Amino acid sequence: MNGMKPLLMGTNLKMYKTAAETQAYLSALQTLTQDLRTDTTLFVIPSYPALERAANTVKDKAILLGAQNMHPEEQGQFTGEVSPLMLQEFGIDIVEIGHSERRHVFHETDEQENKKVLSALDHGFIALLCAGETAEQKAAGIADEVLSMQLKIGLSGARSETANRIWVAYEPVWAIGVNGVPAPADYVRERHTSIRRVLTQLFPAQEIPVLYGGSVNPQNAEELIVQPNVDGLFTGRAAWEAEKFSVLIRQVLPLWQRKQS
Ligand code: 13P
Repeated sequence: MNGMKPLLMGTNLKMYKTAAETQAYLSALQTLTQDLRTDTTLFVIPSYPALERAANTVKDKAILLGAQNMHPEEQGQFTGEVSPLMLQEFGIDIVEIGHSERRHVFHETDEQENKKVLSALDHGFIALLCAGETAEQKAAGIADEVLSMQLKIGLSGARSETANRIWVAYEPVWAIGVNGVPAPADYVRERHTSIRRVLTQLFPAQEIPVLYGGSVNPQNAEELIVQPNVDGLFTGRAAWEAEKFSVLIRQVLPLWQRKQS
């Protein structure tokens, strides 16, 4: 691998695939990407009820698995919530925290995301913290301030020994989902530069990977992956068919490798 960092590519399945569908998807994706193991780190984040089947489907960590959310406490009177101990039983690797739908549909705050981040790190998971500004915040010219706040509060108190298990995803709220408007590559570059500045300030000893997400598709993936400080892509809709995701990964991999050489 001559010192090249693997390309980080993942998908959040949101509330879409059942356990049976997740199993079929993962099984296909695993086979289709078999030749890419050393060059890529792939991850899939299914719904909670699909995690057990997902874990039984993936062999030898060929694809890392994550949960879409987690309550920070190990147990308690929190009806409807899922704890780190419950997630540990599945042997999953990642906990996604603060996705824009959690923040804006379920009104989670930076302080709540911070508790989840610290708990995820304490329980041995990779904490994938998502950050992003709304259209109104973008129009007001405060995107960098919003991102800085989400990162500084969200990651507050993380010890440098566990910071090597922090991943960040920049996902502008206005670029996500069916009504999302794909973000111009220049805009993504500016935000990633500013995110990198904050992360270097917070964790000078770590190179925390920063993924880009929000309407990533075959038309924009190439110009996004070549941007400085974009360490991978976090994809929704464009990755939900295994064949299409495999094609997308193969489309960006040579550009990623060229960027590093
Ligand atoms: P889309 O790629 O469908 O816009 O979703 C992105 C996302 O929310 C990944 O977490």
